[in-house]
Amino acid sequence: MSDYLLALETSCDETAAAVVRADGRVLSSEVVTQIDVHRVYGGVVPELASRNHILHMRGISQRALDAAGISLSEIAAFAATSGPGLVSSLLIGSTMAKALALSEEKPYLAINHLEGHLLSPFMGDEDWGKQIPDHVALIVSGGHTMLLHCRRVGDYELLGKTRDDAAGEAFDKVGKMLGLPYPGGPEIDKTARGGDVTAFEFPRSMMEAGNLEFSFSGLKTAVLYHLPKIDLSSETILKNVCASFQEAVVDVLVEKSIRATKLCSAKLISVSGGVSCNLRLREKLTERCSKEGITLKLAKPNYSTDNAAMIGFAASHRWRAGMRSELETDVSPNLRLMN
Ligand code: KG4
Ligand code: ZN
Repeated sequence: MSDYLLALETSCDETAAAVVRADGRVLSSEVVTQIDVHRVYGGVVPELASRNHILHMRGISQRALDAAGISLSEIAAFAATSGPGLVSSLLIGSTMAKALALSEEKPYLAINHLEGHLLSPFMGDEDWGKQIPDHVALIVSGGHTMLLHCRRVGDYELLGKTRDDAAGEAFDKVGKMLGLPYPGGPEIDKTARGGDVTAFEFPRSMMEAGNLEFSFSGLKTAVLYHLPKIDLSSETILKNVCASFQEAVVDVLVEKSIRATKLCSAKLISVSGGVSCNLRLREKLTERCSKEGITLKLAKPNYSTDNAAMIGFAASHRWRAGMRSELETDVSPNLRLMN
């Protein structure tokens, strides 16, 4: 299939553009991260994020086309993330995609950011153009932590989600408490290496049988209570706090993913979103899945954190299924994956 799609992603603080072929093959994937802009504030400042999207949008779209060796007139449709995310950020990418669709007289596709994450583990040469199998999906990002039963593209059942903080949010908040640079997730991952996972006893919430919901705010508070009693200037203590906290998050994510897979009689777990980059999570999931005879599909690290290739990949499935969106489609900060 030789249709090419240009996909744009601006749901939070990454400006991204990608060219993806209609069979799902990624031809280019460009990302400009704004981490340095937001680091001084310890978190994403929405107004700065949208202003920076405007600065980068045109250049990054052209770079994605150049890297793919495709001209604008060869693009069959323009896709953009329409939610969930920050409204002022979503508006930049979606308005750009709509403007291009209008001027090139080509269709526009509004894509759900979570569907981008959910399908991202299936991006890769061997999967081009293939159907997505029946499986359990764990999405773990800065904004979301959820388990879903995916029967096929567009047929999703929510099995459980977080009642409070997302896993990535908990990593980032605890990182901030420990004085680590923003974002805390990758910093805790690095610092925890070689640390003692049993040094601190942190809670694993909602572990009763059958429960597939998550809660990370109690864990975050438990770390906060320990702070006055420990000396963070000690490298060993800092390592141990990071390792113990990370282990608590990972234990819950792994246990519930396995539970959900058994409940759905599924044979495969897919894991996506920024937190799926976490080395300890990857390690424990790999170990546990091989023991349980479950196939594990992890998103590649460059497709785990926000990117436009995953939006283009989701768009390619939708395009092949005949989806076309109205130019009037609004962005939606709380866009749902299931109706
Ligand atoms: O998917 P993503 O780029 O954005 C959202 O859609 O939220 O995820 C970003 C989140 C941040 O909270 C970041 O700290 C976390 O993913 N993250 C990690 C790691 N790399 C990124 N968390 C733990 N370990 C990592 N290695
Ligand atoms: Zn995301």
